[in-house]
Amino acid sequence: MKKIAIVVLSVSALIALQNCSGSKKAAKAPAVISFDKDVMPIMQSRCTPCHFPPEGRKQALNTYDAVKTNITEIIARVKLPQIDNKFMPFKNKKPALSDSLINILEQWQKQNMPQ
Ligand code: HEC
Repeated sequence: MKKIAIVVLSVSALIALQNCSGSKKAAKAPAVISFDKDVMPIMQSRCTPCHFPPEGRKQALNTYDAVKTNITEIIARVKLPQIDNKFMPFKNKKPALSDSLINILEQWQKQNMPQ
């Protein structure tokens, strides 16, 4: 009797695990990343107002050209440990980028930064 219970439990645990990895896949970056649809919304939600002139006075990151020019530095900084003083968003004033958002930035760079 006990053995059956254990088997049933481990089978349902397996199914639960498979469902988890399934939903992770669904959250993966879209195949072709668009600057306007995918990258800009990340910048707007996490890097404003500091990098969006005129309110923001830090390095402008509010245009395609600015983000493209700085993409290597952007990715490096959002991937730093949150306690690093170079980590962005600066001093955690905005929530850190999730792995899937960082993945979108990395895929975009790999795809040669389509507009
Ligand atoms: C609360 C304001 C604030 C937010 C939000 C913020 N930053 Fe910054 N950022 C700063 C400040 C202040 C500096 C200058 C200090 C430094 O270099 O660490 C800076 C510097 C930078 C630099 C270096 C610029 C240079 O001149 O070399 C990059 C790249 C950068 N931020 C990217 C980002 C990205 C990407 C985001 C959003 C994910 C972001 N920042 C969010 C305030 C902010």
